[in-house]
Parts: sequence; C-alpha cells; structure tokens
Amino acid sequence: MNIEQLKQYARERYIPIMLDDAKELLYETVQKCKPRRILEIGTAIGYSGIIMLSACDEAKLNTIEVSEASARLAKANFEEWGMSDRVNIFIGDARDIVPQLTGEYDFVFMDGPKGQYETFFPYLTELLSVGGTLVCDNVLYKGLVEHVPDNKRHKHITVARNMRAFLDDITASPRYSTKLYRIGDGVTVSTKLY
Ligand SMILES: C[S@@+](CC[C@H](N)C(=O)[O-])C[C@H]1O[C@@H](n2cnc3c(N)ncnc32)[C@H](O)[C@@H]1O
Repeated sequence: MNIEQLKQYARERYIPIMLDDAKELLYETVQKCKPRRILEIGTAIGYSGIIMLSACDEAKLNTIEVSEASARLAKANFEEWGMSDRVNIFIGDARDIVPQLTGEYDFVFMDGPKGQYETFFPYLTELLSVGGTLVCDNVLYKGLVEHVPDNKRHKHITVARNMRAFLDDITASPRYSTKLYRIGDGVTVSTKLY
C-alpha cells in the first residue's frame, strides 16, 4: 500500500485522519525541524506517523492510541513501511499515559481527543525541549471555535469551548511563539521559547 492508498483505506472506513493541506504542513514542519524524538497523541492507523517519519530519517516516534483495533492496524502499517524499529505505540488513554511520560521530546504532534488539549498542554510543555515544536491539529474544530451556533449539539459546544480555551492559552503563552494556520480544520505550529 502506498500513502495515497492508506489515505483511501482510512477515508472509506470513516477513520479520521489528517486533511491533505494539514498533512503537507506537518511534513514540511518535520522536514524543517529535523526532530530526533517525536511524541504523538492520536495514532489512528499510523497515517500521520508515517508522514512524520518519512520527513526525517533520524526521527523516532512514541505514539498514543486508545483504540486497540486502530493500534493493531497502525502496527501493521508501520511494519509494512519498514518503520517498526523507529516506533513505539502506547495503547491506552492518553489522559493516563501522558502524565506518566518522562524524558525529552523535540517535536510533539497533538491530534487525540479534541476536548482534552488544554489538559495535556502543561504536561507537553514539560516534555518538550526548549526550541522544540508543538503542532496541534483541529484547533478551529469545524469552525465552531470562532462561531458557536445555538443549534449545535452540546458535546460539540463543550469541545469547542475547551478548544477555545486551549487556543487562547497557547497563543497568549510567553513560553511559545505560535502561528495559526487556517487550513484543514485549523493547525497551530508553536516553538517553545523557554
Ligand atoms: C484524528 S484521529 C488521529 C489521526 C492521526 N493522527 C492521523 O492523522 O493519521 C484521533 C485519534 O485519537 C484517538 N483517541 C481519542 N481519544 C483518545 C484518548 N483519550 N487517548 C488516546 N487516544 C485517543 C482516537 O481513537 C483516534 O484514533
């Protein structure tokens, strides 16, 4: 399977993976940053992981996924791409796993549960090295972060409010320099300054 076929596979099964322009941005950002240690929240079937590892031969990836079925597919895909020795998949809830992580990462890609970015943020700041990069997908959350209509289901409004709080925090934080890209579902690219 090539990367286009993997994308098709995911789309046909309604497995949520990155949109094309966000994927391009992620690839280019990894290529520019040349990270050694990447942390990802939200593996799904390994699509974004394969994109990141393809962008930098020296990078190793620790990635977290709550769905065992998705993690199994991701493992098979990393194997097929010859990347298994560069990947470690943590299977479980990122809310349990992230607070237990140690060590330093120079690149973090946050693409897990959309209502939890604000919860993970302080932990990720501790794990990220100075000069490291934090990329977050879906920060505009279907357009709801900036315009919350009255008729949206409650779950979406809660997620949108949580995402709004996260977006406000990261853009205001003096510890980060952040750029918001209005592509895909909204992507931030932040550099940790201190
Ligand atoms: C948008 S998808 C990730 C897509 C993937 N990064 C890509 O572009 O190929 C979000 C993933 O996060 C996982 N997820 C949701 N809640 C989670 C949690 N609490 N802990 C870990 N993973 C979670 C979902 O099962 C799903 O596979």
